[in-house]
Amino acid sequence: MSALTNDLRKLTETAERAAVKEGGFRQKLHLMPPVGWLNDPNGLCQLGGVFHAFFQYSPFDPKGGVKLWGHYTSRNMLDWEYKGAPIYPDQPFDCSGVYSGCAYIEDGEMYLYYTGNVKLEDRDDYDYVNDGREANTVLVTSPDGEHFSRKRLLMKNSDYPSDLTLHVRDPKVWREDGVYYMLQGARTKEDVGQAVIFRSEDKVNWTFRSRVKTDEKFGYMWECPDYFETDGRKILSASVQGLEGEEWKDRNVYQSGYFLVDGDVLGEYSLSDYHLWDYGFDYYAPQSFETEDGRRIQIGWMGMPDCEEYTNLTVDEGWQHCFTFPREVFVRDGTVCQRPIRELEEKKRPAASAKGCLKRAGDQVFEADITGIQNNSFRAVLGEELILEYRMGRFEMRFTNQAKDSASAGRGLRYKEMKELRDVKILADVSSVEVFLNGGEAVFSTRYYPKKYSLCAHADGADIRLYEIEV
Ligand code: FRU
Repeated sequence: MSALTNDLRKLTETAERAAVKEGGFRQKLHLMPPVGWLNDPNGLCQLGGVFHAFFQYSPFDPKGGVKLWGHYTSRNMLDWEYKGAPIYPDQPFDCSGVYSGCAYIEDGEMYLYYTGNVKLEDRDDYDYVNDGREANTVLVTSPDGEHFSRKRLLMKNSDYPSDLTLHVRDPKVWREDGVYYMLQGARTKEDVGQAVIFRSEDKVNWTFRSRVKTDEKFGYMWECPDYFETDGRKILSASVQGLEGEEWKDRNVYQSGYFLVDGDVLGEYSLSDYHLWDYGFDYYAPQSFETEDGRRIQIGWMGMPDCEEYTNLTVDEGWQHCFTFPREVFVRDGTVCQRPIRELEEKKRPAASAKGCLKRAGDQVFEADITGIQNNSFRAVLGEELILEYRMGRFEMRFTNQAKDSASAGRGLRYKEMKELRDVKILADVSSVEVFLNGGEAVFSTRYYPKKYSLCAHADGADIRLYEIEV
């Protein structure tokens, strides 16, 4: 280990020791940084029964900074153990940040591919799009998720197509018919977002192969692309920057969603319309992986980059952001749906049930299931300030107070047009709420900072069941 790596590790551990571990708005069910800042999930995988979740981590400042990879492991995706930070920005090719990437598992070995970010010194003549930065593709391997190999620089910007800007990142690797493929997000010199595909015979030597793009320009940059098949449907996921116009005006600064792929991105294909993974305030850069028992699990960052409209009251506690609860992605009657992983059932204890109307105070971590909703009549209030309601042909998530020091920390309204509302599942933690509608056809996620915890749900004729979650 180099002297720099050693010192970065010691500094990280010092920051972690000084952190407040519990209380305040610290979550009980969701992964968050031990201290400082967290963004994208990275290297999600299961190896020998153990789940691994790495994350974009800046331990020294809750508002972000240079990125390392932090690491959690778990046997059930509910109880996670923090394992420290295994990858630091300690090489010339990743010195401005160990950016996002994936895990590819083969023969019991973990192959971690990530983007080594280099930002050259501050200079007025750099625009940091076409000059002033580097995006390097790097490989680290591990036999067990405990010991990590030396880094290997696999590709530099000069290995990518020459019509791309320097914004190329977030590798996601898979294998098909004996060949390895790597998808990376990119921004072209004409400011068009797309994904590029590289191929390799040996996981180490990669060459550019082809692209995945829409017919019309769709945003200027695609981050964290992902490609997988579930229940016979091929899905291309991308976190897109630069969507503008009517359809996007009441939405987040950046979007995370997917295209259904007809055909195959490696051959002839056509992409469906883009669907959002989540309609709430806090959702970005999701990544998926397949469990050893064949489920497609996706975890997103419950946060939003470059967001000025709202904030998180946890900054005062020395940390910011968390992951979504792991969700299974599946296809029902041709529709892509998401549901909390079934492991959660083990932790649920029935606490209350009612028909039509239920009021409870004091629960911080709970699931509420509202089924058999009649005439689309549904309204719930959480923590006195967060309203979930179906009205005027749409489902709304809105806060009654938009002040930066209220439960919303600045959040206002998000909505999705929906013809009908049949059921609602609310998964609440200390400072987050995830809402699954119509068996997971649409999801809304938000952070929230209530002064008092309560739930007040009305839905004529519906069954309302509340479960405490043992944490
Ligand atoms: C998405 C992202 C990635 C990048 C990482 C840096 O949130 O911008 O594209 O690799 O975060 O932290």
